[in-house]
Amino acid sequence: MIEAEEKTVTDLSDSPSRVQVWKLFDRISHRYDLLNRLLSFNRDVKWRKDVVKHLGDSQDQAVLDLAAGTADLLITLCKESDKIRSGFGLDPAIKMMKIGREKLKKKDLTDRTLLIPGNAEDIPFRNNTMDAVTIAFGIRNLINVDKGLREMYRILKPGGRSIILEFSLPVNRLVRKTYLVYFRYILPWIGSIISGNKYAYNYLNRTVETFPYGNDFLKIMEKNGFINLKSSVLTLGVATIYIGEKA
Ligand SMILES: C[S@@+](CC[C@H](N)C(=O)[O-])C[C@H]1O[C@@H](n2cnc3c(N)ncnc32)[C@H](O)[C@@H]1O
Repeated sequence: MIEAEEKTVTDLSDSPSRVQVWKLFDRISHRYDLLNRLLSFNRDVKWRKDVVKHLGDSQDQAVLDLAAGTADLLITLCKESDKIRSGFGLDPAIKMMKIGREKLKKKDLTDRTLLIPGNAEDIPFRNNTMDAVTIAFGIRNLINVDKGLREMYRILKPGGRSIILEFSLPVNRLVRKTYLVYFRYILPWIGSIISGNKYAYNYLNRTVETFPYGNDFLKIMEKNGFINLKSSVLTLGVATIYIGEKA
């Protein structure tokens, strides 16, 4: 029995592994993008493009990407969509964002994007300012997920969308069993060799396996005010996109 089926906690303040987890990301920042491509067999690129499909219809949108890291989702949003007027990225990991800023410069996106240091549980934007707020592989890192979701809701304009991309687990038992062998043993091994950090990629599978997904996660979004909830399962359930709107 996998742990994810037993546990649906959203207040993880008693979990030492999530406290100041951004420091861990800063430590592996130089290898972060490479490992994403390698360990997901390049699927992460496609998953971020899938997020873009869920933006609302309006033009000239203001978008905030939380846990922006090295800015991959922000870049994908700005390059793949013609609806974005301004894109902001927020993350407490300074070294991840330094790499992100260099990438934004190379992609010629500095005139309409900005990366700012900050915490997704205390977002430095006013109420009702964003048309969309996104977060890719970040919601799971928050100490208090409810607080993060309430913050996302607060800064969205009425009708604005929250689009959340997060790892999940395949529903099919055989696929899940096979995936878990890769996820628990092979991925942390490759991750530790290439990043030089033994802990980082063990953290990944432990947090994914204990984080609510599917309908359990949609219920948490609903509890925090979101309406018109939808989810889209990606790559046999290895990742899921959750979409909710502000009333
Ligand atoms: C797995 S990375 C995801 C980066 C990026 N979104 C992507 O798609 O590659 C998780 C990111 O969450 C950030 N993070 C951790 N705690 C955070 C918090 N409380 N608020 C905002 N970001 C946080 C980390 O610094 C890290 O950059």
